Amino acid sequence: KRVGVLVSGRGSNLQALLDACADPAFPAEIVLVLSNVPGAYALERAEQAKVATVTISHKGFPGGREAFDAAMDVELRKAGVDIVCLAGFMRLLSPGFVQSWAGRMINIHPSLLPSFKGLHTHAQALAAGVKLHGCTVHLVTPDLDDGPILVQAAVPVLADDSEESLAARVLEQEHKAYPLALRLIAEGKVAVDGNRAKVEASGF
Ligand code: GRF
Repeated sequence: KRVGVLVSGRGSNLQALLDACADPAFPAEIVLVLSNVPGAYALERAEQAKVATVTISHKGFPGGREAFDAAMDVELRKAGVDIVCLAGFMRLLSPGFVQSWAGRMINIHPSLLPSFKGLHTHAQALAAGVKLHGCTVHLVTPDLDDGPILVQAAVPVLADDSEESLAARVLEQEHKAYPLALRLIAEGKVAVDGNRAKVEASGF
């Protein structure tokens, strides 16, 4: 399967996906990395891995969100993308764009959803006093950080955790969870039943 990855920043999750795809036995290859932020470090990672990149800056993009999303869509289709991965992509997506990639677009979020949607998830977790935190890979639906869950990984919250130490512990799990979720989608092993994504022949 041909994968397009949307990024805005440092791209450590992109790197985890690139590393997984480097294995010839992995059922997906990354054919395009698209950034809305010029100069994002994720673009360098893509270039290093000899993957095509496109930057479409949202700043000053004429025509608003729908037009911006349509421009991304053109690039994704041109590259023959089958599956879209959001990897630290910090833009809301219009319902039309989400609809046209339904079942084929996944996102990683640094919390155990449905807890702590939105930004500053590690601060939210510390403020709530939870003892378990983690990450979620889910199918993208029009609502932010919503949609059927594919993979979750949990980590303990320790008494002396700061936002940074907790983020680092979660990030390590993100880098395992995301390739696993991409594999499941690429192999067509996921059946969606309402809110539940059911994975064939696995413990999830
Ligand atoms: C990750 O924590 C991801 O879960 C969130 O944004 C962060 C992106 O990090 N959506 P990176 O760009 O993949 O390093």
